[in-house]
Amino acid sequence: MARDFDNQVIVLGVTGSIAAYKSCEIASRLVEAGAEVVPVLTSGGREFLGTASLEGITGQRAITDMFESVQNPDIEHIALARRANLFLIAPATANIIAKAAHGLADDWLSTTLLATRAPILFAPAMNTMMYQHPATQDNMALLKSRGCHFVGPATGALACGEFGPGRLIDTPAILEAAAIALCNEQSLRGKHVLITSGGNHEPIDPVRYIGNRSSGKMGYALALEALKRGAQVTVVCGPCEVRPPDAAIVVDTPTATAMLEAVNACLPQVDIFIAAAAVADYRIEDPPTEKRKRNGANLTLELAPNPDIAAHVGAARKPHQLAIGFAAETHDILEHAAAKLKKKNLDLIVANDVKSVDSGFGTDTTRAWFLGQDVEPEALPLLSKAELAQRLFDRVAILQATLPATNR
Ligand SMILES: Cc1cc2nc3c(=O)[nH]c(=O)nc-3n(C[C@H](O)[C@H](O)[C@H](O)COP(=O)(O)O)c2cc1C
Repeated sequence: MARDFDNQVIVLGVTGSIAAYKSCEIASRLVEAGAEVVPVLTSGGREFLGTASLEGITGQRAITDMFESVQNPDIEHIALARRANLFLIAPATANIIAKAAHGLADDWLSTTLLATRAPILFAPAMNTMMYQHPATQDNMALLKSRGCHFVGPATGALACGEFGPGRLIDTPAILEAAAIALCNEQSLRGKHVLITSGGNHEPIDPVRYIGNRSSGKMGYALALEALKRGAQVTVVCGPCEVRPPDAAIVVDTPTATAMLEAVNACLPQVDIFIAAAAVADYRIEDPPTEKRKRNGANLTLELAPNPDIAAHVGAARKPHQLAIGFAAETHDILEHAAAKLKKKNLDLIVANDVKSVDSGFGTDTTRAWFLGQDVEPEALPLLSKAELAQRLFDRVAILQATLPATNR
């Protein structure tokens, strides 16, 4: 994720929540990823956290006082409002959300939020009743309607002893949302991208399953890239270790049959379909409802073929819908991928060498080829999955440009 934050100036607003201590981890991750982070604390934020940790982590003087800027032109609020690439308020109290919604400017942070035209991302943290109060909900809706971004809150145990929505969401989700908010590329605005991700667990009985090694990393990278380009993203997700980005709509589907059902339900609204899941080829048709007992004899399982989801979409799609597949191959990679491209009626297939140690299931990098209809295969260098996702959406932009104008 380093590239997203290189040379980016991020104003990190810390407000008066018990979760203020978590802003140190957020600041630290942003600095590691290349950002220049300027901490700003409200008087509440200062009560909870103080300035020393954030100043140490960011190497910047923390701003706490509106009138300090009179003596120090470097932190004059208009100058920083102009220089910032992003305002990230984490944690964001009900109070700062209300003030931002209604244009109150009674401290440095709220004043500068009015002065900036940089994207603003709030990560709310508060008691569930405060979060669910219509005043807070209306304030958030108003800010969203003006283009402000929100991430979280998470649901869980709160410091006040209650359980519900209101916890500051985890740092990785905040970084992900910050990367999305920072991205100016909006080539997929108004488009709905549907991605299948992960593997499947096909039950053998109620306690066992047949699975595969899909990690969900490629699906994650594709979803994040589509979100950064402004798309609405739905991920139909099989069991895997990497969950899709927080900003995606996620439909969890354990089996291939459930995955197909979820894809079918979503397909009519979709502009771009990407089949990145490692869909199980076979299933046990009627798995027993009781656990199979060991009796010392060999066990033979009869497997029935699963639906081919990419082929199904390839056949069912409308002319304006792009369909892209992934082919995980161990040998004769290009021949097998080319055959799948034609048979499944896809616009593009990404052929993956899953036998190489730096490519395939669970790795962070991939060796791949793009194969399109009526074009020469393109061999890609060793890429991170995030870089592959960028190149894939660059190809999507080319494919979209070739659609008849009425179908774009
Ligand atoms: C112990 C304690 C914990 C608090 N936690 C929160 C919180 O998590 N979220 C919130 O919105 N307000 C919380 N508050 C209330 C805010 O600190 C209060 O509304 C304050 O005016 C916020 O000011 P600020 O937004 O300028 O930082 C808490 C107050 C106390 C005393």
